[in-house]
This record gives sequence, C-alpha cells and structure tokens, in this order.
Amino acid sequence: MDRHIRTVDDVLRLLDGMFAPEADRWTDGGASWWDGFYTDRSRPVPFFAAKPDENLASYLDRGLIAPGRALDLGCGPGRNALHLASLGFEVDAVDLSPEAVAWAEERAREAGAAIRFRVGDAFASGADALTGPYDLIHDSGCFHHLPPHRRISYLTLLDRVLAPGGHLSLACFAAGGMGCELPDEELYRQGRLHGGLAYTPESLRRIFSGLEEVELRRMNDEPSDSPWFGEPFLWTALFRRPA
Ligand SMILES: C[S@@+](CC[C@H](N)C(=O)[O-])C[C@H]1O[C@@H](n2cnc3c(N)ncnc32)[C@H](O)[C@@H]1O
Repeated sequence: MDRHIRTVDDVLRLLDGMFAPEADRWTDGGASWWDGFYTDRSRPVPFFAAKPDENLASYLDRGLIAPGRALDLGCGPGRNALHLASLGFEVDAVDLSPEAVAWAEERAREAGAAIRFRVGDAFASGADALTGPYDLIHDSGCFHHLPPHRRISYLTLLDRVLAPGGHLSLACFAAGGMGCELPDEELYRQGRLHGGLAYTPESLRRIFSGLEEVELRRMNDEPSDSPWFGEPFLWTALFRRPA
C-alpha cells in the first residue's frame, strides 16, 4: 500500500504522472524530448532565428520596461536573453534542455554577452530554486507547455522571484490560432496535452489576476526579413506585480 501524498508538491507530482510519458515537455523527464527538438539547428522552426520577440522589443522601445535584473524562463536558444543583455539587463536564463542551453551559450559567447545560463527545471525548489528578485520575467512559449496543475508552480515562482513593481512578459498560444482547446479536466482524462495549450484573454486574465494588466494583444505577424520575431497565433501579455 502506498500512502505517500503529504504535501502540495506530492499532489503536483502525482498529477504530472497522469500524463503519458511522451506528453512530458515540462519536467526533467521532458528534457530529452526538447534536446531532440533542438538537435538539428537548420530546421525551419520560426523561433530558431536569433531575433527577439516583437512585443518585448516594443515594451522596451515604449519605455514600459527598463533595464534591471531579468529571467528568460524556458530560454531555448537564448534569442530573448541575448536581446535583453544587449540592452543592459543582467540576465539569468533557464531551460530544461542541455542542447538548447549549449546553443544559447554559443550565441552569447559570439555576442560577448555575460548571461548566467542554467540547465534545469525553472520551478525546482530547494537548492536548485531560482532566487531572483527579477524586475522582468520573460516567457516566450514555455507557459503553454505546462499542464494545468503546474500553473500553481508558475504562480508560486512569480510570487517568490518577481520583484514588487516587476513585470511578467508572456507569449503563449492563442485559442483559435494554435494549441489545444480541450477543457482542463479533459486533458487529465486523455493524459495528453496535444502539443501545448491554447489560452483566451479571459483565461490569462483569470490566471494572472494577482498582477496588473499593462497590455494584452496578439503578437504582430512579422515578415521573414524583420529584425523581430512575430507570429500572430500567439498572445502577448505584459503584467505588472503591484509595488
Ligand atoms: C517553445 S520553446 C521556446 C524557447 C524560447 N523561449 C524561444 O522562444 O526561443 C519552450 C521551451 O521551454 C522549455 N521548458 C519547458 N518546461 C520547462 C521548465 N519546467 N523549466 C525550464 N524550461 C522549460 C523547453 O525546454 C523549451 O526550450
């Protein structure tokens, strides 16, 4: 007989285990899937291009966010971390995938950027926990890969490491554009996430209701010769933690 559930973390891990192993894109167990994804760097994956999100560039241009300490959460090959570092941010960047971080480190070396990279789970606790405090957390495409219960881990991370007055800048699948639109409970019945979850503006407002909304809009569709990355199947959101 196994009676091991004692803490919220025990419940979160139990719920992780309700998904098929091949659905895992968010735990240390999902790192090998992402490694495979990043192995061939010549694939025409839009976010493999070394250019930052157009919404991030626009927040900076308009003075909505200013240089400080930043975290690129699920940094992949580091395109947004590099942009932030080039503008004077002190950047930490974390990703599950050693392949992604190796690629990002190469790019940072070439650019002469001093970014602190970390391979591992951004939501880890204990000795491996991120500490912050961050003035900016930028997440382009990580949040929508989390199963519903891991939103709790996400909000806990924000609570712990986002500075008062700090910003969360998010890009995630937009319902009607890309991503799975099944209700949360159905995902557990099926044990699958179907490649990532779609969100509506209302669902994002509800999930991040502890933060103030600065801007929530679809990402601009940037042409291939643009210096910015932009895909219209994503929501972009800037939220601010009350000071
Ligand atoms: C769609 S990719 C986006 C990569 C990058 N942000 C970009 O836009 O170029 C999502 C990334 O989130 C990372 N990721 C997923 N769950 C994570 C976790 N728990 N901790 C750290 N990184 C995670 C994956 O390894 C993957 O590289």
